[in-house]
Parts: sequence; C-alpha cells; structure tokens
Amino acid sequence: MKKILIIGIGAGDPNYLTVQAIDALNAADVFFVMDKGPAKDKLVALRKEICARFIKHDDYRIVEATSPERRRDEGLDYKEAVDELNRDKQRVFERLIEEELSDGQCGAFLVWGDPSLYDSTIRILDSILAEGRLPFDFEVIPGISSVQALAAKHRVPLNFIGKPVSITTGRRLAEDGFPQDAQSAVVMLDAQNAYAQLAGEELDIYWGAYVGTPDEILMSGRLEDVKDEIVRVRAEAREANGWIMDTYLLRKRGVKD
Ligand SMILES: C[S@@+](CC[C@H](N)C(=O)[O-])C[C@H]1O[C@@H](n2cnc3c(N)ncnc32)[C@H](O)[C@@H]1O
Repeated sequence: MKKILIIGIGAGDPNYLTVQAIDALNAADVFFVMDKGPAKDKLVALRKEICARFIKHDDYRIVEATSPERRRDEGLDYKEAVDELNRDKQRVFERLIEEELSDGQCGAFLVWGDPSLYDSTIRILDSILAEGRLPFDFEVIPGISSVQALAAKHRVPLNFIGKPVSITTGRRLAEDGFPQDAQSAVVMLDAQNAYAQLAGEELDIYWGAYVGTPDEILMSGRLEDVKDEIVRVRAEAREANGWIMDTYLLRKRGVKD
C-alpha cells in the first residue's frame, strides 16, 4: 500500500515546524511540491530549505508540479471555479501518486500553514479515494496556521472570554459585513481590502503580511484610524514583492473580557 502524509509546515517561519512534522519529513521517500503564481519561487525555495534543514538523510526525492490556476473569467461563479480547480488538481495529484510513488513508499505533500484551513489537499485525497481506483493510506500532520502566527506576533488572543471567533474570507466580509454572531473575526484571502469598506462597527484591527518571514509587516489599531495606512502599506508591499499574503483579526471594541 502507498502512504501519503499531508504535512503542515507552518505559515512562513521554518521554526514553526512541529516535532511531529519533522518526524514525518524524515519518514517520506518523495515530496510533492505544488505551487503557483508570482510567489511560487519563494515558496518552493522555502520547502526545499525545510527538507534540507530537517531531514537527516539524503534518500529522498522532490517532485515539483505546477498547480493548476483558478479560472477568473468575468461572471463565472466562485464556487464553480473552485470546484473546477479542485478537479484539475485531483488529476495532477493522481498522476503524482500513480507515477512517482511505488507500492510501499511514502509520499508527502508539504502544505502551507495548517492543512485544515483554506487548503484543498485533504478534500482532494478524499475524492481520489472515493473514486476507488487508486488506493492509499493517508495521515494529516497539523501545522502552525497563519491565524496562530498572526495572533502570536500581535500578542493578542483571538476570542474574548467565552465568546465565539469567526474565520472567514475577504470575499465573505465584503459581501456579508462583520459576522453577526461573533465578537472577533479572522479574515484570510482578502484581495480587495474588505476591512476598509466596513461600516457601522467600532473595531480594532490586527493586520499582518508575510507573517513569520523576513518580509513580515505588522500593523494594528482602531480600524477607522489605521485602515488607510494599511491600504497604502499593503499596496506598496505588494508592488515591491510582486505578491502579498496577509491576514487580519478584527475585534469589536468595548467588549468586556
Ligand atoms: C490558501 S490560504 C492557506 C492558509 C494556510 N493553510 C494556513 O494555515 O494559514 C492562503 C491565505 O492564508 C493567509 N496567509 C498564509 N500565510 C500567511 C502569512 N505568512 N502571513 C499572512 N497571511 C498568511 C493569507 O490570508 C492567504 O491569503
């Protein structure tokens, strides 16, 4: 039987790797490295650095595959485009598992941050298994997500005592506003500065870009006071690096802890 490890490698700093992740790296024969877009070179380099730093033997291979990109045609439904993307990714994953791994070998996907959060690797392996054509065993190794890294860098808890925290996307925040049943919300995948359009709520923002990497930028304060500056700094950083990954925590002001 082939074995697949989905290893969360943390969201930027190689020191985020857990002991369990390091043990898993050392157990794998083949690493599948999938990345795309302008950040690809840096992210692939980081994965190679992680392998070189933490694996105690030379008996492994790295197989790079280009991750298919989501179609962004005007009018195309977002969910439909993501489903299509995941089907394309599934074909790539199947090929990697079928052609690059022999029976009894162990392959690993190195997943940015934690595999449970806005990442399709688990979902895709489940659908391959559900088709029943390509059997394998798989295990998930958790990683430090960008959410945890952001909260640690700002030295702030995500939730108020006994209160819910919501994790959402920039797209949802722009469409639905601040989540109704939460006092705090973490926003990921925001390509449109959705925080800057929020109206009505008195909020604090804790924003971070490239968290855990040498390019890290952190800003925080009352949303109304700092949002324009974050928009400016974000645009500058995006321009300078050619890409950006940022996350932020929004917390209602005046909630008693
Ligand atoms: C496809 S999701 C992957 C999330 C990842 N699985 C995790 O656990 O953080 C990508 C989004 O995560 C956030 N992100 C990932 N790494 C980050 C970092 N180092 N700094 C800030 N945000 C990050 C950004 O919101 C980015 O748009």
